[in-house]
Amino acid sequence: MTTLYAGMGELVTNDPGQGDGSPLGVVADGAVVVEGDRVAWVGLREHAPDADDRVDLGGASVIPGFVDSHAHLVFAGERSAEFAARMSGQPYAAGGIATTVAATRAADDETLDHGLERLAAELCRGGVTTFETKSGYGLTVADEARALRLARAFTEETTFLGAHVVPREYRDDRDGYVDLVVGPMLEACAPLARWVDVFCDRGAFDVDEARTILQAGMAAGLVPRLHAGQLEEGAGIQLAVELGAASVDHCTHASDEDVEALASAAATTVATLLPGAEFSTRATWPDARRFLDAGATVALATDCNPGSSFTSSMSFCIAVAVRDMYFTPAQALWSATAGGAAALRRDDVGTLAVGRRADFVVLDAPSYVHLAYRPGVPLVRDVVAAGTPISRKPRVVARRTDTFPSGKFPEEPR
Ligand code: NIG
Ligand code: FE
Repeated sequence: MTTLYAGMGELVTNDPGQGDGSPLGVVADGAVVVEGDRVAWVGLREHAPDADDRVDLGGASVIPGFVDSHAHLVFAGERSAEFAARMSGQPYAAGGIATTVAATRAADDETLDHGLERLAAELCRGGVTTFETKSGYGLTVADEARALRLARAFTEETTFLGAHVVPREYRDDRDGYVDLVVGPMLEACAPLARWVDVFCDRGAFDVDEARTILQAGMAAGLVPRLHAGQLEEGAGIQLAVELGAASVDHCTHASDEDVEALASAAATTVATLLPGAEFSTRATWPDARRFLDAGATVALATDCNPGSSFTSSMSFCIAVAVRDMYFTPAQALWSATAGGAAALRRDDVGTLAVGRRADFVVLDAPSYVHLAYRPGVPLVRDVVAAGTPISRKPRVVARRTDTFPSGKFPEEPR
């Protein structure tokens, strides 16, 4: 069964071999043929092969599905009062996380599952076809494992973030908490996660603690990623590069040496910028041109969480990234799609090319530039995830076959 999508105003493929030859590979009057969950053909409409079904998009533009490589979706409660206080002049501090930890520990599984489902649906409606989510609001062995178990029903990109902050009960015994994280907590969580992460910043974990935890995670088979440079400059970005982390996230504060390390030929670490966090904490914007001009690979993600960035909208992040972080519209779209895929070390998503997953977004706009040009406007008209329109598939996307031996990915739409 094949479906031909045509009648596009503009098709962004992220394949420089297509169309205008730019990194976005923009094809005017393009077409895509989908077979099952994969792209079977992509190119100029006039060369498209015939298909069993045809969909005319009436001049709408098409982009690859967004890849949100950084989110914290397993939590209970919300912190709008803290946001309001910040907007009245209070600074953001890592300590607010404790409020969400208390609410999350007190919540039953059903509450957490509903919260996840709501946010996963929001992401989908906004055009996200692949997303990552972290634990980090449980901070006990049972609560961290529970968060990851619940998250796996929605995505295979799960991250163990037991080292989000030191919980209150360990306030006077930091070493004891690090021992717990690298011992029984890691043992319970490693089978449920692909990634290990640490919040390496003021008020959270220092670089030596981060190194210990990431190395323990790596020894347990997890791949490292790191929160660093959100609140102040530090050695976290260099640590991420040194350990070959898939990404280092925030990078609000980065020295020239940090940028150089990320851009060096040997570096395999993506710099992930999180505009929602600067927006919601009224922090100084990092200048993306520093990273991009140096040659670093840059991703954009939502950082969706109840404290520092309660948005699930990649369109919003793109608009803000263009306006305030000095991405060009093309760079921002690439970073929110192919960049996110790079940050998750995925080569099956983020690009529309033959054999890749058929994940794409139909925009109510003649060009992807409208994502930044028309901020706040709901331009996402349709989302196709793994070849299926999402209205028929509320829990997110398809599962790669080989990652987890068992899991709660529902086979049937609910
Ligand atoms: O990525 N930086 C650490 N963690 C989150 C914030 C979590 C919170 O404030 O609840 C972030 O911004
Ligand atoms: Fe985060």
